[in-house]
Amino acid sequence: MIPTHQYLVAVIGAGPAGLFGARELANLGARVALFNRDIKPGGLAEYGIYPNKYTMKSGLRKQFRQIMDIPNLDYYGNVTVGSQGDLTLDDLRALGFQAILVTAGAQGTKWLGLPGEDLEGVYHAKDVVYFYNGLPPYSQKPFRFGRRCAVIGAGNVMLDITHFLSREKKVDEVIAVVRRGPAEIKFDKKEMEYVIDNLDQAALDAEIQRISPIMQAVNQDPGAARASILEALPKALPKVSETRFRFEFLASPVQMIGDSEGKLTQVELEDNILVAKDGDTKAKGTGNKRRLDVETVIFAIGDKVDESFGLPVEWNEFVKSPTPRFPIDGKSYESPFEDVFVGGWSRQASSGLVGLARKDGTNASKVVWQYLQNKQPGEVNLEAVTAKLKSLGKPVVLKEDIKKLEAMETAETQKRGVEEFRFDNNDEMLQAMGLKETA
Ligand SMILES: Cc1cc2nc3c(=O)[nH]c(=O)nc-3n(C[C@H](O)[C@H](O)[C@H](O)COP(=O)(O)OP(=O)(O)OC[C@H]3O[C@@H](n4cnc5c(N)ncnc54)[C@H](O)[C@@H]3O)c2cc1C
Ligand SMILES: NC(=O)c1ccc[n+]([C@@H]2O[C@H](COP(=O)([O-])OP(=O)(O)OC[C@H]3O[C@@H](n4cnc5c(N)ncnc54)[C@H](OP(=O)(O)O)[C@@H]3O)[C@@H](O)[C@H]2O)c1
Repeated sequence: MIPTHQYLVAVIGAGPAGLFGARELANLGARVALFNRDIKPGGLAEYGIYPNKYTMKSGLRKQFRQIMDIPNLDYYGNVTVGSQGDLTLDDLRALGFQAILVTAGAQGTKWLGLPGEDLEGVYHAKDVVYFYNGLPPYSQKPFRFGRRCAVIGAGNVMLDITHFLSREKKVDEVIAVVRRGPAEIKFDKKEMEYVIDNLDQAALDAEIQRISPIMQAVNQDPGAARASILEALPKALPKVSETRFRFEFLASPVQMIGDSEGKLTQVELEDNILVAKDGDTKAKGTGNKRRLDVETVIFAIGDKVDESFGLPVEWNEFVKSPTPRFPIDGKSYESPFEDVFVGGWSRQASSGLVGLARKDGTNASKVVWQYLQNKQPGEVNLEAVTAKLKSLGKPVVLKEDIKKLEAMETAETQKRGVEEFRFDNNDEMLQAMGLKETA
């Protein structure tokens, strides 16, 4: 029997942070409503992790399914919360939610404000990743992946994009443009294994030789940095294309140049040197500029939170209270609003793996629970929530609908004899769940 009085909490975003956070709150005894922009739960675990990591993805989906089955947890998919969303934070307060946990990830785009960012062929990694992972509406958008592509950044997302460009699109060349040097790369050996067979090692050696004096000036060992990049070689996955993958270190994009039709033709880079600062290094422009002929530039430089959400933003992140009432490990999970909390990539944008997001969402929920202890449990009136959602005039996806969708996808997978079939179109998903009439 579900009690009539419980703490009523809204969790915004059903990625790993939101799902595990919702589970924590539900297990503690709260009544949880989980609102999600996407139809399906999972966030970047569903739509970010590389599509062919089937075992990892299905393991996570299994855990997410168990969370969705918790009785005092309701799921409302296809509902966006925010100042320009289907529901605002004030709408949620008016519906009786006593605390709001924001785990909406980092959905904003970190544009650098460079000339030519609007040219055809210039993209941000998040959009590309959502595209090849089949997330509507990105899955339906046109992208121009040319023969020569530059990817800006040296993190795991840069390698995922290189993986896609070399193993799926089979382009001629992928150039990773890195503002610092090979000693400051952020990617992991494991992710390099997918693409290292495409790496032009002679070009790597020439590049390391070119920048050695700059590295040595800040006491870096070029040989050690080279060796760390090549650590993945023994487990290299055999290449499936002749794509040439190479690095341009110590270079930052300064402008993109296009043709008369607005299509990207070149990216201009400025060379950098390294400057030691507070035990780390910083890239400093030398003023020397050069151009690369490319048809595509993809910025894989991390994301920022959504500035239109309705929470104050500073330095790409939601502002956290500097004097939290309930810190955990010295960290603040609290927004400047007393009833609004943040977790996962909404607390720290583009930071860490699923395991970290899970821990962060769980911690955020512990903070929410401590906050609620000073309040009386509220009267649970989910009819008001249902009525409000009905008034939106759009299909809202519930737990049982997700089960139907998953059953349809499993059946299609078997019918087609493929590794995995997933709908990549909202209308088809809504039709499969019976929430929209077939055209
Ligand atoms: C390309 C890429 C590949 C990755 N690969 C791996 C990997 O192989 N292994 C690994 O461990 N980690 C990987 N990660 C990291 C991992 O995906 C993240 O750590 C994790 O997903 C972050 O979880 P989150 O819940 O904070 O945010 P997200 O996963 O981004 O989830 C946010 C959720 O909020 C919803 N949402 C957004 N805005 C709103 C709104 N306004 N209203 C309602 N709902 C909203 C979204 O629909 C989404 O469901 C990868 C990340 C990227 C970008
Ligand atoms: N398979 C996986 O396990 C997997 C896959 C994808 C993502 N992830 C995880 O998801 C998180 C996010 O990954 P990410 O690759 O987006 O971020 P990341 O690891 O932080 O890497 C971002 C890269 O962009 C560079 N950069 C940032 N701002 C820049 C700017 N203004 N100009 C030029 N370069 C800039 C950074 O350089 P500096 O170092 O100089 O700042 C860095 O090389 C990470 O924790 C990552 O491990 C995991």
